Amino acid sequence: MESGSSNVTALPLKAAGEAADENRRGFVKKFTLSALLLGIGGSVLQFGRFLKPNVLYEPSQTFKVGELSKFPYGSRTVIEGRGIEIVREKDGIHAVSLVCTHLGCLVKPVDNDSEIGYACPCHGSTFALKGEVLGGPAPKDLPWYEVYVDNSGTLVVDTSKVNQKRTKLVV
Ligand code: FES
Repeated sequence: MESGSSNVTALPLKAAGEAADENRRGFVKKFTLSALLLGIGGSVLQFGRFLKPNVLYEPSQTFKVGELSKFPYGSRTVIEGRGIEIVREKDGIHAVSLVCTHLGCLVKPVDNDSEIGYACPCHGSTFALKGEVLGGPAPKDLPWYEVYVDNSGTLVVDTSKVNQKRTKLVV
């Protein structure tokens, strides 16, 4: 009789153990599936990064600065955000860099001075009206860039090409 009653009580314990095993298996399955999906998702994201080019976008070095009529004879026009000045004189037009050749500060155009055309606020270099160094630590003259007029009559500056001969564009 005792052994019979132990059989009766043993069955629910076994069923409880199986249920616990099944819970454990279910948990392991869900955990494994989640980990697998996370891994696949991460891989897809990493792969997606290769589809987008790893490029640093910079503004073009060739850009329009405006119609010629915007630059009357005798004018000096700073092109904001480009570090250049357009100078138009009777004998032509040119673009001069406003980036100091010492450590790269932006020089300021100087008006009403027969000798000094530009002055650097950082360490005091001064440049002539055509960009030649007059004083201070700047080692080189301010470069001129190539300019041309396109088909629509707009002045274009190409800062990738230094105008070595410092020739003005006759327009
Ligand atoms: S950066 Fe212009 S003088 Fe130093």
